[in-house]
Amino acid sequence: MDKRAQQVFALLSLAVLAVTLAAIVEAGRPPWKAYQRAFYRLAASRERDATRRQRLLREPLEIKQILLPGLGRVDRCPTCHLGVEDPDLADAPHPFRFHPGLEPHRVERFGCTVCHGGQGLATEKTAAHGPVQNWLQPRLPRRYLRASCACCHTEGEIPGVPELGVARQIFATRGCPGCHRLNSFGNTIGPELSDEARRERTPEWLEQHFRDPRSMTPPSPMPDFRFTQPEIEALTLWVLSLTTEPMAAYYRSVPVIPSASEGRRLAARANCLHCHAIQGAAGSLACNLAGMATRRSARYIERQLEEPEPIGTRAAMLAFGFSQPACRAIRAFLEVATAADARTLLDNASALADGGETLVELGRRRTLHFGCVGCHGGDLKGGVKNPNSQGGAVPALIHLADDYTREEAATIIRRGKTPALEDPAKPAPPLYMPSWKKILAEEDIERILAYAWSLRPKESEAW
Ligand code: HEC
Ligand code: HEC
Ligand code: HEC
Ligand code: HEC
Ligand code: HEC
Ligand code: HEC
Repeated sequence: MDKRAQQVFALLSLAVLAVTLAAIVEAGRPPWKAYQRAFYRLAASRERDATRRQRLLREPLEIKQILLPGLGRVDRCPTCHLGVEDPDLADAPHPFRFHPGLEPHRVERFGCTVCHGGQGLATEKTAAHGPVQNWLQPRLPRRYLRASCACCHTEGEIPGVPELGVARQIFATRGCPGCHRLNSFGNTIGPELSDEARRERTPEWLEQHFRDPRSMTPPSPMPDFRFTQPEIEALTLWVLSLTTEPMAAYYRSVPVIPSASEGRRLAARANCLHCHAIQGAAGSLACNLAGMATRRSARYIERQLEEPEPIGTRAAMLAFGFSQPACRAIRAFLEVATAADARTLLDNASALADGGETLVELGRRRTLHFGCVGCHGGDLKGGVKNPNSQGGAVPALIHLADDYTREEAATIIRRGKTPALEDPAKPAPPLYMPSWKKILAEEDIERILAYAWSLRPKESEAW
């Protein structure tokens, strides 16, 4: 080596050494320590008692972590977010600010990431908040944060999250199950949605996909439903709540958040008024439920609903298998129930009973429930694109009566049908008619066909 090269080499070695030393010093002074120091200084400045003030200033700086075996997580967010449980810090700056509304989710049992997402183990701000590469779970932006509520509270309304109701209604009426499976129900033409929250789709991706599926996954066969912006946001929030993440039973022990309105829904489903009355309206097989809440204790009523027991010489009520929060909801409803409620429940009950409805209406409902409308279009009028099938679209079903006998149509429904290709050289059409043999009862097929036959346009009858 000549002298010049030796000098360069020596300089380079020094530079490497300097960088290494700097990194070691930096590692000994991670930013979270600065946050903790600032936090204890802030807390001390608010403390009047001198000894406690001194103690705060001497607090050891350490990583604070919450072990959550029931959730399979370890959250270190409180390493910096130190004031979440201290209401005196309601006006402190982030990350020291008090966390309002956390009750009844105790920090030591829930941690943070189960609601917020993010990397629980990280102790560096960007790594914890993201976005970073290959992350376990993206942190949810504020407007979709409440999607996580529905991961655990899987049924009914959640106060402050009206989007869920909107989205579930869309899923139930716009034909999504015709192509997607959710919790063992629906077809498999599109991807299963049961674990969509863990598929790492960003909220922006999902929004744009609902706005125009083909712009995100060309040539998606998913129809463009022309959703409004609020519908897009409701669907995105809902989809971000769909998860099969394993959790200890405790975390899913409150599927329904008890409220009087949930109670009303449950009472409608269980048809209480078949036997009971509320202020004279309806059933006479059992006692009047009006005023029940003043005659009996809350505990008693909830117990009777959870595990009915015989009352004196009278037989016990049948057990409905309600969860404990569901019983609380029904009890809350009984506290406010009026005769007007009773009449509404009765009207709903007769609307639900199959006998009260025409075959055609029952059939129409089945086409929504099973998702026929997802492929055959709203009111079965067709129009859903199906590239390279003859005609280029899934057929409408309003002309069924012109082309088939009912038995022929029933056979197609039972067996399914693959569309013939328009151009044999091109890929097969993405949408085909699934076989419904194992899903639809014969009477459902009958109802659907009654509906399809009723849709026959008037002029074709003259033929
Ligand atoms: C190294 C310190 C640090 C850690 C660890 C940390 N944070 Fe933060 N966080 C901050 C700071 C500082 C702010 C204040 C806003 C800012 O500077 O970005 C903040 C702000 C926030 C905010 C509100 C503002 C925003 O950007 O939306 C949320 C929510 C939040 N953090 C959640 C979390 C969660 C969840 C974790 C654990 C996965 C976590 N943080 C871990 C330092 C931290
Ligand atoms: C039960 C769910 C839940 C848990 C658990 C939870 N949070 Fe939150 N957090 C929320 C909700 C909901 C909001 C309010 C968002 C809003 O105002 O729109 C929020 C707000 C915040 C904010 C303020 C965000 C802002 O933009 O001002 C911070 C910071 C935060 N949480 C951090 C944490 C930390 C740290 C933990 C763990 C100690 C935690 N959260 C645990 C649900 C939760
Ligand atoms: C990881 C599961 C989980 C998540 C996420 C979660 N909760 Fe809860 N929630 C629970 C459990 C479990 C309880 C019962 C707590 C207890 O009593 O020990 C509960 C209790 C409640 C209650 C009180 C119910 C009662 O008994 O009256 C409300 C209200 C509530 N949660 C709302 C929310 C909201 C709003 C969110 C989203 C910001 C949310 N929860 C997120 C599991 C969860
Ligand atoms: C005609 C069949 C069809 C119908 C009806 C349909 N989808 Fe899809 N969907 C698909 C197919 C195929 C894909 C996969 C290709 C793509 O990403 O667009 C898909 C993709 C999706 C995705 C993205 C999944 C991912 O890759 O992360 C979501 C979310 C979704 N659909 C939700 C819905 C909802 C909600 C409805 C009802 C409003 C619906 N779909 C109706 C066929 C359908
Ligand atoms: C199939 C008939 C039937 C249905 C449906 C029914 N119950 Fe009952 N219920 C009874 C009978 C029988 C008793 C026993 C006491 C009696 O005859 O009043 C009873 C007792 C009760 C009691 C205890 C009364 C007391 O004074 O100890 C409550 C509370 C109650 N029912 C509430 C409900 C609610 C709420 C629903 C709907 C979720 C419901 N029941 C549905 C038949 C029914
Ligand atoms: C995943 C999309 C999809 C779903 C969901 C679907 N279909 Fe189909 N269906 C098709 C396609 C594609 C065809 C055309 C097959 C062909 O071209 O031979 C078809 C054809 C039919 C036909 C024969 C129509 C004709 O003119 O030849 C009937 C009847 C039918 N479907 C009924 C139903 C009913 C009832 C449901 C709901 C229970 C349903 N379909 C759900 C895609 C679907």
